Amino acid sequence: MSKDDLVGKAIEAQRGAYAPYSKFRVGAAIRVSGQVFTGANIENASYGLSMCAERTAIYAAVNHGALELQEVVVSTDASPPSSPCGACRQVLLEFAADPANVTVTSVNPAGEHRSWTLAQLIPDGFNGRELPPT
Ligand code: THU
Repeated sequence: MSKDDLVGKAIEAQRGAYAPYSKFRVGAAIRVSGQVFTGANIENASYGLSMCAERTAIYAAVNHGALELQEVVVSTDASPPSSPCGACRQVLLEFAADPANVTVTSVNPAGEHRSWTLAQLIPDGFNGRELPPT
């Protein structure tokens, strides 16, 4: 699946957002272990329980046994295109074997694009290597 296909999937996923409180609809399409997974943000009346699109997508991937994050596309209506929140960056990092090799692209309906590597978005992130041996 090409980058353009992934962009199309993220835009499609955005339609599934449940965002009655913020009205900020977010869709994500990610390639993980060669498979594509999508997600959208899901809010809650207890605001802190809301879940971002990127984490909805990566959790679906992991639940299907896909563990190696390769590429991320996010779709919002923001201009300039918005970048993933800190919590999502950390969760995405967990599944990136090489964060410098994972491209994160954000798009909007105006056709604007912004791209980063995951390593740029979360440099020197916590990756669990500091944890004591099990
Ligand atoms: N949101 C995402 O889905 N992804 C992000 O990276 C940033 C924020 C959602 C969470 C909440 O539902 C709404 O956008 C406003 O913060």
